[in-house]
Amino acid sequence: MGLTALLVAASRAVETHRHDSLAQDAYAEHFVRAAPACTHWPVRIEEVVDGDDNPLWGRFARYFGLRTRVLDDFVLRSTAAGARQVVLLGAGLDTRAFRLDLPSDCVVFEIDRAGVLAFKEQVLTGLSAAAEVKRVPVPVDLRDDWAGALTAVGFDTAAPSVWLAEGLLFYLPGPAETYLVDTVDRLTAAGSALAFEAKLEKDLLAYRDSPIYTATRRLIGIDLLDLFDKGPRPDSAGALTARGWSTSMHSPFEFTRRHGRGPLPEPDDALEGNRWVFARKLAP
Ligand SMILES: C[S@@+](CC[C@H](N)C(=O)[O-])C[C@H]1O[C@@H](n2cnc3c(N)ncnc32)[C@H](O)[C@@H]1O
Repeated sequence: MGLTALLVAASRAVETHRHDSLAQDAYAEHFVRAAPACTHWPVRIEEVVDGDDNPLWGRFARYFGLRTRVLDDFVLRSTAAGARQVVLLGAGLDTRAFRLDLPSDCVVFEIDRAGVLAFKEQVLTGLSAAAEVKRVPVPVDLRDDWAGALTAVGFDTAAPSVWLAEGLLFYLPGPAETYLVDTVDRLTAAGSALAFEAKLEKDLLAYRDSPIYTATRRLIGIDLLDLFDKGPRPDSAGALTARGWSTSMHSPFEFTRRHGRGPLPEPDDALEGNRWVFARKLAP
């Protein structure tokens, strides 16, 4: 089971219980509680001894809360503009099909590894959770022919769609990211949208002592730097622009200022190079 997906779920649980939460995910804490690897993880900031001063459960979790909110808004804007297919690449424990107010004729495709999707299904079934819209899990590795798997379960390439790669690309080898972006372009009609998270820094190890990484390693044993792909990154925003997409790149701190809460820059900050890219496919 993907520990990184559980880290994001625990962060969403913490965010959900905040009095000034940026996003609500009532399912998140149930995933954490159901995973044997997470028995000592908090689901509320009150359970953390140093509270908001904790680099992992304070600042980093708030980062995930902000990211969730910003991408919730992106999906809702895109469906309001006409998209009726939502594709979650590396969906993990994302519950947007259950918790967002999507148009009733929407379909949400969730792509991840079989083990992650099976765990998610087991927890949601145990809660008798009912998705608000049609939901189609697509168990496939993104290094394999996932496009074939997606079209085989009914994804319609002629209709506009909205795609998220949230917390995903830096885990994939560069060629898999290039294939992913090429494939999204190939499978999408004009009017489609894609949001993804990228890292600007050329040398990931430059931030190896960032409190975000050291606390995640020390408190829950996840070495993010070890999990991230170390090879050179493709310029995916540039590739989309060259193919006729309109793209914009944002620092998360912009949204902290917009919402009045979330992480702000710090010295030796692994979040400094993070970017959220929004892309829309224009008519040819
Ligand atoms: C950090 S989690 C993010 C999950 C979700 N997008 C979110 O923000 O809550 C990364 C997810 O990507 C999935 N993932 C990583 N590499 C993958 C691959 N090669 N094929 C399919 N899924 C992959 C993991 O299983 C995990 O669920």
